[in-house]
Amino acid sequence: MIFVLLVLGTLAFALLLLPILAPTRLTPQDTRRTELEEEKELLLGNLRELDSAGTDAGTLTREKVRLTQVLHELDALPPAPAAAQARPALPTAAATLLGVALLLGVGSATFLPQWRNVGLSPNEQAQLRGAAELPRLAAKAEKTQAPADYLAWGDAAWDAGKFNEAAKAYTQVLLKERDNAKALRRVGYALLSSREMARDGMSFIARSVALDPQAPEGQLLYGYGLGLFGQYAEGIKALETYRKLDPDGRDADELLVEYQAKVGGQVDGQLVFAQNCASCHGQAGEGGTGPKLVGSPALKNEAALRQIVLNGVTGMPAFPQLEGKQLDALVKTLQGESWP
Ligand code: HEC
Repeated sequence: MIFVLLVLGTLAFALLLLPILAPTRLTPQDTRRTELEEEKELLLGNLRELDSAGTDAGTLTREKVRLTQVLHELDALPPAPAAAQARPALPTAAATLLGVALLLGVGSATFLPQWRNVGLSPNEQAQLRGAAELPRLAAKAEKTQAPADYLAWGDAAWDAGKFNEAAKAYTQVLLKERDNAKALRRVGYALLSSREMARDGMSFIARSVALDPQAPEGQLLYGYGLGLFGQYAEGIKALETYRKLDPDGRDADELLVEYQAKVGGQVDGQLVFAQNCASCHGQAGEGGTGPKLVGSPALKNEAALRQIVLNGVTGMPAFPQLEGKQLDALVKTLQGESWP
């Protein structure tokens, strides 16, 4: 988080300095950048309006795909020289920062789990070594503009774990073939790492699963995404479907255990207290090194109580790991009639 802020801060500073430092000379790239910047602002404006107007998902998706494409193209151009000068500084900077945040979000896709063998037969695994081929595949796709070539580039980038680059290629596929299930789920996966666009990522993946329910990778990514949104039970269903479709696939194992722990069984609030709190507050909350909790007004306010447990207070450690079912059960116990 601090890193992202630092990067954003540096970029914002650089953006402020650029118009001062750069020479005033317009190249074709500057013209293109200006066009793209204008389209970007238009799209951002449209999206804000469409979002609040409850427009149909298709229109929203198209606008967002186009925005991603514009951002990528902007990204590929050299840094802006004087062209930005003539534009009102504040809205431009704000829009650019939003764009950069989106791009960084997509860029951070590389921190997502790397699905080791998804979609790869053993002989295809040689492709993993094909990362060196990426520039050639990219150049070819950009020359022919053919969906098949963009797919080949996207696939190679995906197999090499370069999810950002893959999303770029698959976005081009989607502009030509809206219903390409593989491109949909893989762009969706990249979007999941961006806070602003995670929901769109999820709807991309959901559409992909609806189009091609038999694709193991679709079910795997769907299950992963559902977990990100806290829908563990549904996530388990999708992950189990993945395992049925691909009995040798091991990529869901860890997630399945994690999700089952989240939904599994009734959590006993008394037990949570005994394990985490009793050492200081006493077995029955009668007090010890920590204050007496029985009858404490601090238990009445649920939000405050959750705050205390999750963040700690002076002299009391934080328990962020209890977040979720355990905390719910603990709070219920502490506020219950029958406690202690
Ligand atoms: C290491 C000892 C320790 C543990 C473990 C601990 N606490 Fe505390 N807790 C304290 C101390 C010390 C305070 C008093 C902090 C202060 O007032 O500055 C406190 C304060 C509180 C308060 C506020 C009480 C009041 O009257 O203001 C609540 C509620 C509370 N703890 C709940 C819990 C719960 C629930 C757990 C288990 C998840 C827990 N504590 C675990 C030491 C502990």
